[in-house]
This record gives sequence, structure tokens and C-alpha cells, in this order.
Amino acid sequence: MQVLVIGGGGREHALVWKIKQSPRVKKIYCAPGNAGTGEIAENIPIAADDIKSLMEFALQKEIGLTVVGPEQPLVMGIVDQFEEKGLRIFGPNRRAAELEGSKSFAKNIMAKYGLPTAEYKTFSSPVNAAEYIKFKNCPLVVKADGLAAGKGVLLCQTADEALVAVDSIMGKKSFGQAGNQIVVEEFLQGQEVSVLAFSDGKTVLLMDSAQDHKAAYDGDKGPNTGGMGAYSPAPFFTEIMRKKVHDQIMLPMILAMQKEGRPFKGILYAGLMLTKTGSQILEFNVRFGDPETQPLLVRMDSDIIPIFEACIDGTLDQCFLQWKNESSVCVVMAAKGYPGPYEKGKPISGLQYANSLPGVEVFHAGTKTQDGEVLTQGGRILGVTAIGENTDIAISKAYEAVNKIKWQGIHYRKDIGHRSSV
Ligand code: AMP
Ligand code: GLY
Repeated sequence: MQVLVIGGGGREHALVWKIKQSPRVKKIYCAPGNAGTGEIAENIPIAADDIKSLMEFALQKEIGLTVVGPEQPLVMGIVDQFEEKGLRIFGPNRRAAELEGSKSFAKNIMAKYGLPTAEYKTFSSPVNAAEYIKFKNCPLVVKADGLAAGKGVLLCQTADEALVAVDSIMGKKSFGQAGNQIVVEEFLQGQEVSVLAFSDGKTVLLMDSAQDHKAAYDGDKGPNTGGMGAYSPAPFFTEIMRKKVHDQIMLPMILAMQKEGRPFKGILYAGLMLTKTGSQILEFNVRFGDPETQPLLVRMDSDIIPIFEACIDGTLDQCFLQWKNESSVCVVMAAKGYPGPYEKGKPISGLQYANSLPGVEVFHAGTKTQDGEVLTQGGRILGVTAIGENTDIAISKAYEAVNKIKWQGIHYRKDIGHRSSV
């Protein structure tokens, strides 16, 4: 079978790496890909949101399976358009992807079906939002409704900060149209965990847990990013918690979407806060997490292709997943300045050296190849991923590999995994 992977980040490199291990796969294309995917698949210079060109490509090459990495094409309806042409594609359709595309839609559906989430209200007028904020206890969380590349969530310690956040999102339109509506919600406290599951629209198959590190700097300080590192499994997320999350969050959400006439096929990713009173849903995403995918896939023993196919065919109840009984850690190496402005085009050295260490996979994100050299080409550059007997061993292996890699202007967190033993 020929497979097309859409996207060009660390998540997509990890997906290509995993898909390549399947005996069912003859050839992999990645659009647009990066220097890392270019080494193990054929990169195609089509942007991830250029649905028309992607579809023409898939038809012309008779692609047997397309796997979508980022949320944007899913929210735009890539799955609907591919399916209309009879192409097999893994991911939710446009109406199901609204679960990530609109935070107010997601919160309303959680409320309607009684799923555990922070108390909230949605607004399309800043005046009404300001009125509400005056009567609420702080801290509060103000969220842009639409897609904002993980940056549209503002944690506000005081009412004044919350009002500034409302003005930034709705008045100044800091996130463009994504700020036409906002969600204001109660601030939750606890450990965060990412739970990703495959779904065929009727059942869910949970992956092992992972934990992301969203803040830019050590000690969870600084601005939020797409994710500076992740590890799997999260040891504090017990089997009992996992079963509850399956029974009380993931499966009820899939059944709710079915009832709403929006059956959800693909990856359902719940960002959870483990509070004193139980797991609360911070958000749903409709795709693999980045960087969670990198540590998850290096631990997954099962062939991923039959799982993708079962999700499309509605036969997921016949599948199960096998995991390595080891821990994995991914340290994201970013360009200095990220998530603000940063420079590009810096030559990277030490990649082969790092990659040859036992148990290490260096997944590329913002990289490109030019004249045989690998150059930086984005904010998050690499996801250096290691597997080991336990989290501490995986952490030291990952940092040993990180230390072999150099370019001018590197930034990475030195404390990935620090909450694993809390
Ligand atoms: P989201 O994109 O909704 O997951 O939000 C991004 C990050 O903001 C989350 O990973 C949390 O760290 C934080 N966050 C979101 N909602 C809340 C909340 N209600 N209480 C506390 N932190 C939150
Ligand atoms: N790691 C956060 C995300 O993928 O949204």
C-alpha cells in the first residue's frame, strides 16, 4: 500500500517512522514533510492546508491511505473531500473536527452530556464578558473560540487581567477570526495529562498516557508554546484513573458525537486536569498531539496500519494495542526566541551522532535540507526522543543525545519529565 502523511512537524516524522515499520506499506509520501521525513519517505512540496492539490496528488498516485497530522485541514474538511472521491483517509470529518475547531461547541457538548469540565460561559460580545468577569472569582481562564495554534488560552490571575485578555482577543483580534467568540472558564488546579485514543465512531481504544510541557522555560515558566517536551507513560495516572477516563470521558464523548449526528472517527485527544475531585476535561483535540506522539509511538509495539484501517472501517472493537514496558521521553530543541520571533537557516551538526545512540530517535520538526546540509526552518526544530527502563533513564539518554546536537541559537528545556515523580 502507498501511504500519504500530511504535515511537516515532529508528529509527522514520528508517524512516518512508525508507518514505515508496517509490512503492509510499500511507499510513503509526506506533504510537505521536513528534512527527517525526507530521509525515510518522499517529501511532496504541497502545503498541509492545500486540500485540492493534496487530493489531486492522492488520486494520481492511487494512495491507499492518507493520515492527517495537523488540525487545520481536518477543520477545513479534508476528510469529507477525500471521501467524496472514494479515497481512504484517517481522521474526523469537518463536523466532527469542530470539537477542536470551536471551543464553545466543545464546551456546550460536554455540558449537554454531563462530562466533567470547568464551569464556563461563552460570549460573542466583550461587554457581556466584562460584566460576567466582574462577578466571578479569580483566577479565570479566557479562551479564543477558534484555532489559535495553542496560543489562544490566557490564564488570568485578576479580573483586570481577564478584561485585558477579553480586549486582546475580541477587541484587538490578536488571534483573528478565532476571537469572534470567547469562552471564560473557572481555573482548575492539578497535574495535566494527555490521553489519546483511536476511535471508529462507536468505540474507543486508548493509548498509554503522556504528559506535555507547554511552557517555554524551565519550571513551567514563560509563555505557552506548542509543547517543549513530553514523556510516556505518566506514572501518576493510575490504571483506575485510566478506566474512569475511558468509561466517563472518552466513550461518552464518542457516543455523544454519534447522537449529535457527528460520528467521530480518528484520534480523540483529551487534555485533562487531574484535580482533587477527579479528572476534568481542559480541551479536546481531534488529532495526534505534538510532541506527545513522539514518545507514544516509540513505545507502541502494534502495527499502526491495521488500527487506522479499523477506525475507517468501523471494526475497532476487534483491535487491541501492545506497548513496550519501558518509558520514553522527548525533548524539543527549539530556535532561540521561540515562541516569539526567531532566526532560520542555521546549519545543524551532530544529528547522526545523536541518532546512533542506543534507544534514541531524533525526530525532525522545523528542518529542511539544502545542498546536503540540514538547516533550521521553524520554531520547534527537533524532538530528541529516547526510550529506557524507566523515566529517569530515558531522560538521561535523551539529554545525552541533545548534548551532541549543535546550531547557532538553541533553546530547550532542561527539566522535561520533572513532574513524573510528583
Ligand atoms: P487548552 O488549549 O484549552 O488545553 O489550554 C492550554 C493550556 O492552558 C492547558 O494545557 C492548561 O495548561 C491551561 N488551561 C486551559 N484551561 C485551563 C483551566 N480551566 N484551568 C487551568 N489551566 C487551564
Ligand atoms: N501538545 C499539545 C498539542 O498537540 O496540542
